Amino acid sequence: MSKNSSNQYNITDIFENVSHAKYDLMNDIMSLGIHRLWKKYFVDLVSSKHNANEKILDIASGSGDIFNLLPITKNLYAIDPVSEMHNISRKKNKSKNINYQVGYAENLPYRKNFFQTITCTYGVRNFENRKDGFSEIYRCLKQNGYFLIMEFGIPKRDLINKPYKNFLKYVLPFTGSIVAHDRHSYKYLAESIISFPSQISLVNELKNIGFSHVKTIDFISGANSIYILQKK
Ligand SMILES: C[S@@+](CC[C@H](N)C(=O)[O-])C[C@H]1O[C@@H](n2cnc3c(N)ncnc32)[C@H](O)[C@@H]1O
Repeated sequence: MSKNSSNQYNITDIFENVSHAKYDLMNDIMSLGIHRLWKKYFVDLVSSKHNANEKILDIASGSGDIFNLLPITKNLYAIDPVSEMHNISRKKNKSKNINYQVGYAENLPYRKNFFQTITCTYGVRNFENRKDGFSEIYRCLKQNGYFLIMEFGIPKRDLINKPYKNFLKYVLPFTGSIVAHDRHSYKYLAESIISFPSQISLVNELKNIGFSHVKTIDFISGANSIYILQKK
């Protein structure tokens, strides 16, 4: 599947570059390590909803943090278009039995109603076509199964809204150029956060596909949010 032809950024190339260039370290620096706490919170939430005997898919699985934290070793499926990300995950998740697939959310290579749970952390922002991605996720999810998203956003509170945007526009690309020698990729990451839909718009997009909205949990006034959806 050819992607991102009309975009000034080739998203797969970007993640190939950042996977080589200290991806995990950059995440730690960018979020002052807070992304680890958010991921732990997210995984605890997933554990409370998922039955370990059922199948779970992590979309945009990247370097494998979610399955690394999840206290489950079997029925794990991970999909990401960048095979180098899977290689990092394999090293991190040696004790886990993970079925890896190179591919896009918009074209999932799984049967319908296959998974009890589907997760996607910091990946939805990169979908070239969210409607296609969400439709595919809905198709592959079992009845009553959960789709859990975690994604960055722009804080709703005015006081932190502007400084946060300035952090994304200036500090993030600068840090990327120093630590990872890759200003361009980190400029893309910043722009993709700034242009991401508001929490309400995203939930409406998901409802239009057919999902029931269970809950949205905001951190730092929406700088990071968890969305819990269910296929009813
Ligand atoms: C910021 S990383 C997040 C990785 C991981 N989920 C985490 O929380 O650390 C975004 C990932 O999305 C992947 N990606 C980009 N476009 C995608 C698409 N259309 N479908 C699925 N994954 C995609 C990238 O290759 C990259 O690994």
